[in-house]
Amino acid sequence: MLVIIVAAACAGQESAASPALSPSPDRLVPSATPVVTPAESVSVFAWNARLGRGVNLSALEAPQEGEWGITLQEEYFDKVAEAGFDSIRLPVRFSAHADPEPPYTISPAFLARVDWAVQQALKRNLAIVLDMHHYLEMMDVPAQHKERFLALWGQIAEHYRDYPPEVMFELLNEPNTALSASVWNEIVAEALAVIRRTNPERPVIVGPVNWNAFDALPDLQLPPDDPYLIVTFHYYLPFPFTHQGAEWIEGSDAWLGTRWEGTPEEQKTIQEHFAQVAAWARAQGRPVYLGEFGAYQKADRASRQRWTSFVARQAEANGFSWSYWEFCGSFGIYDPIRHAWRTELLQALLPPARP
Ligand code: BGC
Repeated sequence: MLVIIVAAACAGQESAASPALSPSPDRLVPSATPVVTPAESVSVFAWNARLGRGVNLSALEAPQEGEWGITLQEEYFDKVAEAGFDSIRLPVRFSAHADPEPPYTISPAFLARVDWAVQQALKRNLAIVLDMHHYLEMMDVPAQHKERFLALWGQIAEHYRDYPPEVMFELLNEPNTALSASVWNEIVAEALAVIRRTNPERPVIVGPVNWNAFDALPDLQLPPDDPYLIVTFHYYLPFPFTHQGAEWIEGSDAWLGTRWEGTPEEQKTIQEHFAQVAAWARAQGRPVYLGEFGAYQKADRASRQRWTSFVARQAEANGFSWSYWEFCGSFGIYDPIRHAWRTELLQALLPPARP
């Protein structure tokens, strides 16, 4: 099946490029008394700006860490921080590490591993998004899994309630298939109600259906009385360019050799998509996080560099924070064998002189 992972993003308000806030060291670890800065005094737009420029750190979304070739290392957090990124998005397959029966307890050992990753990020002044990734059963039979999904969020929210707001929650990566807009909108409201019991002001990230497609945003309904939401979208267009030769996309070998030259028409398409997102978000009064964009390793290097740079700059021009997909896997900007950056991609994301 061809999966159009488009993206929708939201509107520009404050510059996502310059983190407005940085945590003081005593806010990096949870304590008995909440240390969260009240979000009403630090608008959610500023928290989105704190996400700034980020990268997805893949590993915990595999069925078991390491199964897809990546095990998180301290080195990765060092590299991300040293390069000048502001944040990490951590895709986590919580659903593979929780009981199938009520009360759906998340494995303490797995949660400890997530804690370790969170601490590694916060120690280095990186904000971190805990993204519930690959809960595939939710996409296929949401009615059967909703109770478990809500119970997982209940546990995660309780567990991280005293962590600083630089730890942000993302409800569900790329809702699709049976998660139609109407079903998803109801679940969003219920999940937020669960999270708000323990985390009344934590920034929570929510995206639209159709794999977080930008043009599905108009169907996303967010509780109007929750001011602490950031809207996300993913952008992988043109899909035959970004997913050429991708093993999980049937027929994608036919796209091998597709280039992205950055012609005026190619640029205009992306600009128009982002402008739509920005207009929607402005009207809704929500900040936008471009949580995934990237081109697969089989695309030619120069095209990847051009596209990556163009998309990142367009996001910034619209006031979106962003997170590249991903660090050291098959879209990666870092070679974990050689322990070296793929410099052309790193520079596409973080040009030497920051605007
Ligand atoms: C999926 C990855 C995939 C990427 C690009 C992500 O959301 O989790 O498995 O490689 O999108 O298609």
